[in-house]
Parts: sequence; structure tokens; C-alpha cells
Amino acid sequence: QATRYEGEGSGATCTGTIDTNHSGYSGTGFCNGDNTDSAFAEFTVQASAAGTATVRLRYANGGTTDRPGDLIVNGTRVETTPFASTGAWNTWTDRTVTVQLREGANTLRWDPTTAGGLPNIDYIDVAPAT
Ligand code: GCU
Ligand code: CA
Repeated sequence: QATRYEGEGSGATCTGTIDTNHSGYSGTGFCNGDNTDSAFAEFTVQASAAGTATVRLRYANGGTTDRPGDLIVNGTRVETTPFASTGAWNTWTDRTVTVQLREGANTLRWDPTTAGGLPNIDYIDVAPAT
């Protein structure tokens, strides 16, 4: 059973603006990060027990090139998420990654690795492994 954390939610930090101008998002908007490698998207995720969890991030990249970002969980890099183009800003797709969480609060941050910044980020769904 997954818990959803919206990019515009109170437990998230979006270095940019919360926008609504591209349809198909969940909740009340999405995170449009500034187009710079210093703009990040961060989520605080609660886990009832330490263990493996599946993180499904929904994003749109209407640009023509990848917008890669390092996924940093509690300070440790897990992967570089490629964030390939989705062809249009209203075409959303999912990236699923497995992470290790600790009991209690966890920080999941995507740090862009190029000057283009991140794609638009809608939410993450986090589900403990069963
Ligand atoms: C456009 C688009 C934004 C997007 C931006 C970008 O301005 O409307 O939603 O974030 O491009 O290139 O990052
Ligand atoms: Ca942007």
C-alpha cells in the first residue's frame, strides 16, 4: 500500500514554483524546478519500520533532452535518474526505484546534474516492500 507525497505538499521542497499550467497532474499542482543544476526537489517520507521501499515518481519532461538528477536518500546517492523526454509537458510518466528507508523520517532529494534542471515533478508514491 503506497503513500502519496505531492510535489506541492507541505512535506516537500520545490526549488522553483508550484504550477498548474500543464494538465494531468495529481493534487493541486506540480513542482516546476528552476532550470539550473542547483534547483532540487525534496520529499520527507515517513516509514513505520526500516526496510526496502518502492518509490514511484511521476514526472513530465517536455524538453527534447534528458534532465538527469541524482536521487539522494538520507544523504546517500542511490542512482542518477535519467528523466528522459516525455515529448510534451502534459505527458506524464513514471520512474520506479527501490530504496532503503529507516524507521521514521527519511529525506529523498533529486539533485539535477545538468544546467537544464529537473523535469516537472508531480508526486512520489512510496510503498514498503511486502
Ligand atoms: C516550460 C514549461 C515548464 C517547464 C519549463 C522547463 O516553461 O511550461 O512547465 O518547467 O519549460 O523547461 O523546465
Ligand atoms: Ca522547469
